[in-house]
Amino acid sequence: MTASYNIAVITGSLRKEAFSRRLAMAAIKLAPGHKFDVVPIGDLPLFNQDLEQTPPAPWTTFRDRVRPADAVLFVTPEYNRSMPGVLKNAIDVGSRPYGQSVWNGKPGAVIGTSPGAMGGFGANHHLRQSLTFLNVPVLQQPEAYLGRIGGAFDDHGELTDESVRKFLTGFMEAFIAWIGQQKK
Ligand SMILES: Cc1cc2nc3c(=O)[nH]c(=O)nc-3n(C[C@H](O)[C@H](O)[C@H](O)COP(=O)(O)O)c2cc1C
Repeated sequence: MTASYNIAVITGSLRKEAFSRRLAMAAIKLAPGHKFDVVPIGDLPLFNQDLEQTPPAPWTTFRDRVRPADAVLFVTPEYNRSMPGVLKNAIDVGSRPYGQSVWNGKPGAVIGTSPGAMGGFGANHHLRQSLTFLNVPVLQQPEAYLGRIGGAFDDHGELTDESVRKFLTGFMEAFIAWIGQQKK
């Protein structure tokens, strides 16, 4: 029997109609048999080490939601050739207190996306840089830089682009296999 995993999903945009969230929802549908928790990051107070002794409730809620997951999937747009600040803030919040990072050892995968041609390459790799330090073994192949994403959805936000669907299907298969390998 194939294992079933609990996967936290974090998207890097707070925009209601975000392409990154639409892609995340599409990816989730393409991996039936696993439990996904889309963990919100928009209400996390900016990380401030002075608050570590009495952490704001949203930090604790966030950490408690990510901690039990078997793995984590990031789907992010690119802001100024890097990951959006809200996503970096969530990474920082999850990484502390020192020695209690919720990311440590969790298999991960990153999907970068953009309406532009480069598919969020810069965001994807800046995120990978942090994940390397945080001991998140990140799926290497296939890499996901989903460019020209603006036309991939219908008016209801459903994925209609067949080439993106095919890619995402293979990506999610590879991610699930990756989780299995890391958990051995
Ligand atoms: C502050 C800001 C910076 C941006 N920088 C980039 C960028 O470096 N590369 C890029 O491809 N798109 C950039 N964009 C365009 C975003 O890719 C686009 O707004 C996208 O729809 C945001 O992702 P979302 O649909 O998931 O919200 C930027 C947008 C904003 C608001």
